[in-house]
Amino acid sequence: MSVTTHQLIQWKQQGRSIVALTAYDYAIAQLIDQAGVDIILVGDSLAMTVLGYETTLPITLDEMLHHAKAVRRGVKQALIVVDLPFLTYQESPQQAMHSAGRVLKETGAQAVKLEGGYPAMAATVSQLTSAGIPVMGHVGLTPQSVHQLGYKKQGKTAQAADRIIAESIALQEAGAFAIVLEHIPADLAAQITQKLTIPTIGIGAGPHCDGQVLVTSDLLGLSEKQPPFAKAYANLRETITQAVQDYSLEVREGKFPE
Ligand code: KIV
Repeated sequence: MSVTTHQLIQWKQQGRSIVALTAYDYAIAQLIDQAGVDIILVGDSLAMTVLGYETTLPITLDEMLHHAKAVRRGVKQALIVVDLPFLTYQESPQQAMHSAGRVLKETGAQAVKLEGGYPAMAATVSQLTSAGIPVMGHVGLTPQSVHQLGYKKQGKTAQAADRIIAESIALQEAGAFAIVLEHIPADLAAQITQKLTIPTIGIGAGPHCDGQVLVTSDLLGLSEKQPPFAKAYANLRETITQAVQDYSLEVREGKFPE
């Protein structure tokens, strides 16, 4: 049985931390699922980490669907959430319904994630959830708004913090089953986590969220540039470079194949 959105809410009540990671392909999805993560996010960070774009803005819905299908084939347990890419949901609730519908129908993922809160996005979330589409919200630093916000920490003034709190509450009232809090002060994330009945999943938002998410390329030490809040648990850039250099040397010296 896969992890469900209801289980996540129960885990918040029980104080069991939720573990989330991104995946963009079959092999990594299979490994991290078997290692026991609760949520696998096919994040639009795929645009930068795998496709080499400068920002998440250029990725298309068809590209997201292509990768989400591969992830689906690798996953048995985790809840799969797929990001709706830039301008595939902001125009109208109808546009969001069409895009989210394609994600669920064509990939077999169980939920979508979208960025932004109050008031327009809450109305969209309400329509999606009324149609039976589980939605994860995302507030604080929202990378699809990079040209407005940059990659700076959000919610540092009292006014900005109040807005993020209002957005989180509006998303919960609209029916979101969880909310990503990205790059906001830890005490603000703690306040939001305490106010909401749905789980908060933090990234660069301190230790008091109900769960944590990392971009898997950052966790594995594969990223060219790490965000300040990410932690690398391995150094695959070094491991891969060393393996390729060893192989090249052995081929050139006639040692491989033996
Ligand atoms: O696209 C992504 O990987 C994300 C995470 C950073 C939460 O949205």
